[in-house]
Amino acid sequence: MNTTSSSNQPTFNLLHIEETHSTNNYLTELCNKEDLAELSTVVANYQTSGRGQRGNSWESERGKNLLFSFVLYPDFIKIKQQFIISQLVSLAIIETLNTFASGFSIKWPNDIYWKEKKIAGILIENDLIGDKIGRCIVGIGLNINQTSFVSDAPNPISLQQIIGEEAHKSEILHTILDRIRFNLLLLKEGNAADIKSLYMQHLFRGKGKHYFKERNSVFRAHIQGVNDDGLLILVDESEKERGYYFKEVSFIL
Ligand code: BTN
Repeated sequence: MNTTSSSNQPTFNLLHIEETHSTNNYLTELCNKEDLAELSTVVANYQTSGRGQRGNSWESERGKNLLFSFVLYPDFIKIKQQFIISQLVSLAIIETLNTFASGFSIKWPNDIYWKEKKIAGILIENDLIGDKIGRCIVGIGLNINQTSFVSDAPNPISLQQIIGEEAHKSEILHTILDRIRFNLLLLKEGNAADIKSLYMQHLFRGKGKHYFKERNSVFRAHIQGVNDDGLLILVDESEKERGYYFKEVSFIL
């Protein structure tokens, strides 16, 4: 792999490829063959089968957006605390995007939104060793310069559509990776509480009451918190606490 360095931080491996099925798959296969340093990253111009959450596909016009995956070895994190990885990655993206405009937030569990529209998605795939996370492949799709979307993804938007001009993909990639490295260091130094608190501060609809849907029932609630394992805690209008894992509840947009 090519080695590149960014600011005055330690080096990480960055591999640019024109096209692959999915950078998550590509990096997983590479990790199965070679020992790669933490934060080794594969970035592609195009994915033939980009994968999203819930078995969805991820649309991205060739060359327009950021499509990348990197590897972490968070073997100091217990499976029950795995949501901290989602939190630190979402935060790194938000911190980067906040330098361009305001209005970005994290829609639980880890979609990145601008106002009511989705600009980025994260796909995290863990390999477990006992009750710890041995290897974690984090894939990020961030819409940068695409200006029309054809898939049936409900509400996509790109950075160019927000700021009204083209943005530099490579600079944004390096900033995100730097922020991830920094947040990872915070976590390793025992500052998980800071990461959790920042995540909560940036949460989409984190304040006030909003409509949610659980199977066929719609209810109004406010977000009380998110547990270490990603459980979303809502409090409904009868003051009842309701806990949900990913896919068990959705926001009504
Ligand atoms: C989501 O559905 O919100 C998650 C989307 C994740 C897409 C990225 S693009 C780079 C990496 N490779 C993939 O196949 N998926 C992730």
